[in-house]
Amino acid sequence: MNENDPARRRIILSGIQPTGTFTLGNYLGAVKNWRQLQKEYDCYYFVADLHALTVYHEPAMRRKASRAAFALLLACGLDPEKSLVFIQSHVSAHAQMGWMLSCLSPFGDLSRMTQFKDKSAKHPEDINAGLFTYPALMAGDILLYQADYVPVGADQTQHLEFTRNVAARFNHVYGETFRLPEGYFPKAGARVMSLAEPTAKMSKSDENAKATIFILDDEKTILKKFKSAVTDSDAEVAFREGKDGINNLMTIYSAITGKSCDAITAEFAGKGYGDFKTAVGTVVADELRPIRERYAELLTDKAYLDAEIARGAERAAHIAEKTLAKAKRKMGLC
Ligand code: TYM
Repeated sequence: MNENDPARRRIILSGIQPTGTFTLGNYLGAVKNWRQLQKEYDCYYFVADLHALTVYHEPAMRRKASRAAFALLLACGLDPEKSLVFIQSHVSAHAQMGWMLSCLSPFGDLSRMTQFKDKSAKHPEDINAGLFTYPALMAGDILLYQADYVPVGADQTQHLEFTRNVAARFNHVYGETFRLPEGYFPKAGARVMSLAEPTAKMSKSDENAKATIFILDDEKTILKKFKSAVTDSDAEVAFREGKDGINNLMTIYSAITGKSCDAITAEFAGKGYGDFKTAVGTVVADELRPIRERYAELLTDKAYLDAEIARGAERAAHIAEKTLAKAKRKMGLC
């Protein structure tokens, strides 16, 4: 089928690291969209455990975290009958492709990656080569499945640009092999900020317990965290420069309810920040409750989880191996 034929089903691919429970940022910036895209596209979603190796974790914790992340993806509504859901390290093609692409990755480009700079500043005692070549592995993840679109939060834009560049370089040097993927960003929620410091990204590893909503937080905890969210000293719920805290709360509210900023401003006209914070906390708690319940259920069904993990790996390997073989042929490896 012709590449541009509208009848060709487009391919979606994305991944998430299994380093602790997902945050509301992961959910609104990525996983919520993944669920919605299942209807229209061929979707591949995975737990990026090879990427998580760049930071040390105890092996037993790592094993547990990967399974938990897989279960969380299903709990968030990824349906293994519709999408291919798998764990990255179970498909050996990822590591091989990552190496092949790292040999086409300029040192200068890798040095400019914000995530590398941030993470190496955070862990100065462990700046390893994996942290540095991380974008080449990520490019391999995407290119192995010939993805058309990659739904991610705004923090991954640079890595996507890198992927396109490396794919174009490979195609130029070795001949047409990879499709150049495009980012797919949500209208609201692409950048969810910390509740305690709204100029910084909401992140799993924040030391301030009030900064981050985890998707397994219970209702009471969620409401409490929103109540203590940092805002400003004027009292208008409006999206404006300088109102980082309120802008963030509006982004979250909008990502869940689908309401525009103007509609939200009108809804809370004449009301205080207290009412607004409670409203945001309530919609978030309502959205996350079924995920928490489904997750608890899934963890009790060990046989089902094991079977889905194995099935996902087998199906993903089948697809990835084909592209890997093609790339190896082009490079003169076989
Ligand atoms: P990770 O695990 O850091 O995050 C998973 C997804 O969540 C998004 N995200 C956010 N979105 C909005 N606001 C936030 N505060 C926020 N925090 C995280 C991220 O943008 C991401 O979409 N390198 C990737 C994992 C990966 C990957 C891939 C993704 C590996 N290979 C191939 C896509 C395609 C990462 O570390 O995501």
